[in-house]
Amino acid sequence: MFMKLVIAPDQDTACAHVADMLYTCCAQNPAAVLGLATGRTMERVYGHLVRRIHDRPVNLAGCTTFNLDEYCGPVARTAQSYRAYMQHHLFRHLDILPTQTHLPPGDTDDVTAACARYETAIRAAGGIDLQLLGIGHTGHIGFNEPLSSFASRTRRVRLAPATRAQNAEMFGDCPDDVPQHALTVGVGTILETRRAVLLATGPGKAAIIARVTEGAISPMTSASALHFHPDCTFVLDEDAAMDLSDECRWMAEFILPRH
Ligand code: GLP
Repeated sequence: MFMKLVIAPDQDTACAHVADMLYTCCAQNPAAVLGLATGRTMERVYGHLVRRIHDRPVNLAGCTTFNLDEYCGPVARTAQSYRAYMQHHLFRHLDILPTQTHLPPGDTDDVTAACARYETAIRAAGGIDLQLLGIGHTGHIGFNEPLSSFASRTRRVRLAPATRAQNAEMFGDCPDDVPQHALTVGVGTILETRRAVLLATGPGKAAIIARVTEGAISPMTSASALHFHPDCTFVLDEDAAMDLSDECRWMAEFILPRH
């Protein structure tokens, strides 16, 4: 078993490749359970996925989705929420019932019960077949900031300053306006998924990708836990892969541009 590395020549090819993985998962399994992610990186993935599904329709009636995370507080009911992001970039374009799409309920009064219910719902759906992941500058997957236990489950977390700065665009470029807390599935929850794919593009991700891929496995870098995942693929563009060593690149699969 190896962590698989796929290196694409450019961002669009990397995103299209990941969209293909999601499409194939749904096409092959009418009851597919997808773990979905947010962030700017995923916008292009969802664009490709929507086009694929419109070109060659798949029946999503039996498909279920679970997102990784949501901001805490009243913001979870606004246009800045991850629910709104998912609606805008994916759900409104698909023939999928709102009851089949799940996000952690960031505006709940009883966080402990809501987080336990989220874990139960994932298990009741049969577990996640394909988990999509982005990566934050702190090395987080979901919102699992440094020192998240590799056994952690869905819970409330405090966001690191670097994460609030990274996500400020949706909040008028003002990091102080980014919520301080979020609900996220845990690293342990992510490690239980049947297959995981982490997508990183652009030179801004090169340093963290090299650290996660070749550096120490540590709770200081949550994504490094993916070395324990039985079926994990990193899909990178050349910019995000540029700090990888020759030894590491030697293990990678290189894919060609689409056009
Ligand atoms: C947010 C999400 C993470 C995601 C990250 C990547 O922080 N909670 O799950 O990995 O965004 O963001 P971007 O794609 O904008 O770099």
